[in-house]
Amino acid sequence: MPSPNLRTFQNTIDAFKTKLAEQSAQIHDLKALDELRHQFLSRKRGFVTILIEELKAFAPGEKPAAGQLVNALKNEIQETLAGLEARLKAPAKPKREIDLTLPGEKRYRGAPHPIRLFQREIEDIFLSMGFSVEDGPEIETDYYNFEALNFPLHHPARDDWDTLYITDKLLLRTHTSPVQIRVMEKQKPPIRIVIPGKVFRRDVPDPTHLPMFFQLEGLVVDEGITFAHLKGTLEFFLKRLFGDKIKIRFRPSFFPFTEPSAEVDIECLACGAKDPECRICGGTGWKEILGSGMVDPQVFKNVNIDPEKYSGWAFGLGIDRTAMFAYGISDMRYFFENDLRFIRQFDLK
Ligand code: DAH
Repeated sequence: MPSPNLRTFQNTIDAFKTKLAEQSAQIHDLKALDELRHQFLSRKRGFVTILIEELKAFAPGEKPAAGQLVNALKNEIQETLAGLEARLKAPAKPKREIDLTLPGEKRYRGAPHPIRLFQREIEDIFLSMGFSVEDGPEIETDYYNFEALNFPLHHPARDDWDTLYITDKLLLRTHTSPVQIRVMEKQKPPIRIVIPGKVFRRDVPDPTHLPMFFQLEGLVVDEGITFAHLKGTLEFFLKRLFGDKIKIRFRPSFFPFTEPSAEVDIECLACGAKDPECRICGGTGWKEILGSGMVDPQVFKNVNIDPEKYSGWAFGLGIDRTAMFAYGISDMRYFFENDLRFIRQFDLK
C-alpha cells in the first residue's frame, strides 16, 4: 500500500503535468518559452527542484518510488519544452506576395464535343416534332445488324457495309438501323423515334471516311404513313438545320430494309454548286447526307408488326459528315484528333 504521503506526492505531480500542458498551449514566442522553462526547471526555485527537496522527507523505503515520479515528470517537461522550441525556431513560411498586375490563372471549362453539340441540335429539331430519343448496343449480333433488316445470309448487299466482326455472330454495328428492330420488338405502333450513336466500318481514314463515326437513325410507324410524310418531315428537318434556302433532292436508291428507297442530297455548301473542281462535292454541286425509304414489309414481319395494317418510313443520317457541311470543315479527321485549338472553337458559351 502506498503511504498517504506518496499518494499526495503523486497528486502534486499530476497537477504539475496539467499545468505544463495548459501553459505550453499558450506559448507563442521564445521569450515565453524561457519563462516556462524557468518556472519548471530553474535550479533555485523551479517546481522540479522543490519536489526534489520534498523527497528528503520520505521514509527510506518510499524514496525510490517518489524519486521515479519526479524523474518521469522532469523527462516529460524536457520533451515538451524541446518540442515547443523546435516549433518556434522552424523557419516561418514566406508570405505570398500577390502581384495584381499579373494576368490571372485561366482555367478552361470543359465543353461538349462539337459532334455532340451538333447531335443535340438535330435531336432538338426531332423532339420538337414529337419524336423521342432511343439508344442501342454498339456490339451487335449478325441477326440485328443484317438478318432482321432483310439482308439474308450471303446476300451481296452485305458487302456495302465493311463490317468489323468479333466472332461469326458478333460484330461492331455498321449502322444504327439494328436499333429499329430492337425498338419494334418491344414497342407497338405508333412509333416515332430517332436513334443517335456510334457505328463502325473497316475503312481507312481519309478526309471523308473514318472507321468510327456517328449516325442518327429515324423511324416512324403508324397506320396510313406514306412517302409524303417522309419527304415532308425530312425537308422540314433539313430546312431547320441549314436554313430555308437550302436545296434538297431525293434520288432513288436501294436498301434491303426499305422499299422504295431514296438517298437525300443537299446542295454543296462549300462551293455553292459553282466550282467544277470542288474537293467536297467533286464538282457535282450535291452532297449525299442520308439514306431513307419506306420500311420493307418483310422487316415488319420480322418483328410481328402487321404490314397490312401499318406502314412506316425510316432514314439514316451521317452526323459527322453533315456537321462538316454545317461548320464548313474540309476533313472529318479533325473532329477526332483532339487538337484543342480546333475543338474549343465550338464552345460558344
Ligand atoms: N443504315 C443505312 C446506312 O448505314 C442508312 C439508312 C438508309 C438507314 C435507309 C435507314 C434507311 O433507316 O431507311 O447506310
